[in-house]
Amino acid sequence: MADMDGLTEGKNYHLDKPQQTEGFFLKGCGSLDWGMKNRLARIFNPKSGRTVMLAIDHGYFQGPTTGLERVDVNIMPIAPYADTLMLTRGILRSVVPAFYTKPIVLRVTGGTSILKELSNEEIAVSIEESIRLNVCAMAVQVFIGGEYEKQSIINMTKMVDMGNRYGIPTLAVTAVGKDMARDARYFRLATRICAELGATYIKSYYIEDGFETVTSFCPVPIVMAGGKKIPELDALTMAYNAVQQGAAGVDMGRNIFQSESPIAMLKAIKAVVHEEETPEKALDLFNTIKSEG
Ligand code: R5P
Repeated sequence: MADMDGLTEGKNYHLDKPQQTEGFFLKGCGSLDWGMKNRLARIFNPKSGRTVMLAIDHGYFQGPTTGLERVDVNIMPIAPYADTLMLTRGILRSVVPAFYTKPIVLRVTGGTSILKELSNEEIAVSIEESIRLNVCAMAVQVFIGGEYEKQSIINMTKMVDMGNRYGIPTLAVTAVGKDMARDARYFRLATRICAELGATYIKSYYIEDGFETVTSFCPVPIVMAGGKKIPELDALTMAYNAVQQGAAGVDMGRNIFQSESPIAMLKAIKAVVHEEETPEKALDLFNTIKSEG
């Protein structure tokens, strides 16, 4: 118990100042509970309102992936440079040290492999695991237009219900089937369905034509998905265009960990996302850091 000696009664009541509680900086998130907002404020930088998420969850459906063979060797040295790490509980428990304190976004759906129909996923991690692992959000794949569309949507709504119960945000990851058109119309449909059904924020691909209509049509934050490895300038340009057109950051994997210099790439992407650096200047930054080794 605190020492009561010398206890003085408070005198400075600041009667001239109404109490202020700042609003929340993320689109559509103002009515969420405190714990949910606090977790989001760890994922998204409150100053820029954006995040650079490093996705390394590929193994959950495609097994070995170039660059992820040894997460301890290839990823842990670069992970501190990302704002957020997105991964599976298997890698989190087996490789990531518990003193790694960056926010974790945990992949919680699964059950399929590249050998079969990918949309046939189910919830593969309980809410208790997410709580136990102290994660900042749970990632759920949603296959709009896919064979198991309804099942994947219901996976998401179940996680939203459980996440809301315990203050853990749900990230809906829009997955596009091979035969589907990746256009603004599709992404407006997919992201809006996820938002309407309660996703806290949404991962969606960038498209050249009409991406700003996707972000504007979606009432909650969208983070841009990366996709297959492309030249650094192209990836930086895509990230730049996405944030300029309303994305609240990026969630990229291969374009970071398959880069010749992943740390340089992370720093360059952060410059584009948080400081609105142009892609060309960010590429200069990339080359400088890369040449310094
Ligand atoms: C895809 O749906 C998964 O979340 C991926 O495993 C991952 O996030 C993809 O990252 P990228 O396409 O940027 O390598």
